[in-house]
Amino acid sequence: MKSIFSCLLSLSALPLVAQQPDFSPLQLAEKMTREEKIRLVVGMGMKLPGTAQGNGTGVGMLEDKVPGAAGSTAAFPRLGLPATIVADGPAGLRISPTRPGESRTYYATAWPVATLLASSWDTRLVEEVGRAMGREVKEYGVDVLLAPGLNIHRNPLGGRNFEYYAEDPLVSGKMAAAMVRGIQSNGVGTSPKHFAVNNQETNRNSVNVLVSERALREIYLRGFEIMVKESDPWTIMSSYNYLNGPYTSENYDLLTTILRKEWGFRGLVMTDWFGGKDPVAQMKAGNDLLMPGTPAQMAEIRKALEAGTLDEKVLTENAARIIRYIQQTPAFKKYVPSNQPGLKAHAAIARRAAAEGMVLLKNEMSSLPFPKGARLAAFGITSYDFVSGGTGSGDVNEAYTVTLPEGLLQAGFIPDSALQALYVPYVTAEKALQPKKSFIEEFFNPTPRIPELELNVQTITAAADAADAALITLGRNAGEGSDRKTANDFNLKASEQQLLEQVSAAFHARGKRVVVVINAGGVIETASWRHLADAILLAWQPGLEAGNAVADVLSGKMNPSGKLATSFPLKYEDDITAVNFPGREFPEKAETGMMGMKKIPAEVVYGEGIYVGYRYYLTAGVPVAWPFGHGLSYTRFRYSPAVVTALPGGNFRVSLTVTNTGKIPGKEVVQLYVTAPSGKLDKPAAELKGFAKTRLLAPGQSQMLYFQLSPRDLASFDTEQTAWVTDAGQYTLKLGASSLDIRQTAVLRVSKNVIVQKCNKVLVPPVPIREWKK
Ligand code: BGC
Repeated sequence: MKSIFSCLLSLSALPLVAQQPDFSPLQLAEKMTREEKIRLVVGMGMKLPGTAQGNGTGVGMLEDKVPGAAGSTAAFPRLGLPATIVADGPAGLRISPTRPGESRTYYATAWPVATLLASSWDTRLVEEVGRAMGREVKEYGVDVLLAPGLNIHRNPLGGRNFEYYAEDPLVSGKMAAAMVRGIQSNGVGTSPKHFAVNNQETNRNSVNVLVSERALREIYLRGFEIMVKESDPWTIMSSYNYLNGPYTSENYDLLTTILRKEWGFRGLVMTDWFGGKDPVAQMKAGNDLLMPGTPAQMAEIRKALEAGTLDEKVLTENAARIIRYIQQTPAFKKYVPSNQPGLKAHAAIARRAAAEGMVLLKNEMSSLPFPKGARLAAFGITSYDFVSGGTGSGDVNEAYTVTLPEGLLQAGFIPDSALQALYVPYVTAEKALQPKKSFIEEFFNPTPRIPELELNVQTITAAADAADAALITLGRNAGEGSDRKTANDFNLKASEQQLLEQVSAAFHARGKRVVVVINAGGVIETASWRHLADAILLAWQPGLEAGNAVADVLSGKMNPSGKLATSFPLKYEDDITAVNFPGREFPEKAETGMMGMKKIPAEVVYGEGIYVGYRYYLTAGVPVAWPFGHGLSYTRFRYSPAVVTALPGGNFRVSLTVTNTGKIPGKEVVQLYVTAPSGKLDKPAAELKGFAKTRLLAPGQSQMLYFQLSPRDLASFDTEQTAWVTDAGQYTLKLGASSLDIRQTAVLRVSKNVIVQKCNKVLVPPVPIREWKK
């Protein structure tokens, strides 16, 4: 205590520089005392059971300014630097919806999850969502949204996959860039995360990811590279895991050599919450801000400075980057938040975006759209308890979630009232029985979804007599802290299987259709039961307007145009990463980690190399349930032959015309895959190199789409040369409606081998990784 007081006294005696004209961030950092800099690079703490209440500097926690925010940075009035506030997360602003002593509420929009947004393949839409999301950040008084998440869907069981976009780095990078541009257009910041290779929740703080340089560069870093170069985020969040040895937050080569020197990142890097171990190593690596911040971190930095093991210059640079960030914030600009973010208008955008990213997987005999006024029997507890988004820090406190029957009713359908009379009280009663838990309790021990209601045969038969068609919703939820399981999650529960069988038997016996709605944040098994459904709509986790958005697609008000940005295998074991997920544990070396939790050292080897998702399925010829890029429409499209034009600088332009040949308006997503010539490096059968979505085309209407390719787009990372290299030879360009539905091809020739870009020899795995090859 004594030292804090003496430190505060000495600070108040320091000259005031706030009013003096325009110092650069570095000049301001140089004017700071050592103690001030230490206080700046360590966040202000977080109110969590078992942790410090603030970092004990005497400046105080800022949580009370925006309750429910995740953290804050310290204020330095003498330097004119205010405190700033950061809050989660990727599906919308996560703050407390209520405040002590106030009657008004602070709800935020629960947006469709990232996986759904990516399935729209529409970067303009994602930017629009980002603009609205950022408005809520600004108007609720927050400076940085801890989003977007853009880790790769390496394995379908990844607990946070819903927060991330895709199994492909191009889609991930383009979507994240659009999101960052949208959010930051409000003058608030973003923190794209988790940099890098945070592809699992199991042992996330203790797993060492062993991955080749090539897989890193082509798959796991590529999306971040695209995002940094195309959107200039204010901050980036390092991840929890180790990467080929050190923690990512302690890795100079990741955070400085690659991120700053190779890619030109100008912002600050913050840790994930309590991430890493050695604050001094983090400072040296260029991980400028330690979040949420603890007194122990400050003490260690102070000790290293005194001992001369940390150069004060390093700390000054870290501080300067934080100052540069602070000077951009609404807090610095003294913006007074209105606490009126326009939730009504945002709900309309959320509804439209949700429908744009839903994927019509199957639609036999044009079962969908349903005719107006159809009588629909909604089965499954999820129909009455729709999942708007995932759990953990990716969750949002929204005011409501529209259920399926509510959406159906508003769309002019007639939901079966007898079923509602059974389900609604059941769901209410079961939910009331669930334990009331704090965020932290729920975080570490998520409450399972309520069990399926078992219906007797008479109930199902009566519904089949009364209704025109059946809807069965299958629901899944997951989130931070644990990965999903195959039993009763990836694979159906016995009760769901039984419901599908009974309902489809009863309705099909009467010549009536059965439509399954999948309400999940990630991939589930569908191959064993899909024959029971006439149509399957993958609604993902569509945010607060869930039921309305599903009804918009079921009614045909919105013609589905979403396509998968992640593959659906026939069975879990077909995924090449299944044998290496979530890796090996070393329980004999267990130690005590954050908040007294057991930390088990672990290791995961990315033995699939670059062959993640469709790159593997296409190359190995392994059949899937629904391929990458798949998604149906209520109309049809014709693709004209593709035209390739050479442009200056070794670039190429590919163009083609898409025509709506069906009977109703619709949008089409065209994907450009490239098959490279066989050269020195092993190449996937095809890789996505571009995508474009048409506007809404009326029947008979056409639109020309363009794709531009640079030599870098055709290159692979050659580990021997530590460079991006384009091999000479013939490249086949494949324009498709999915990775398996190629409509047009064209070729282009590269006359000689080109080293497109030399890189630094860094992040080398400590042992050679044995990788799958074709
Ligand atoms: C998560 C981050 C999140 C942070 C702050 C961590 O547990 O991994 O994604 O932004 O908490 O809530």
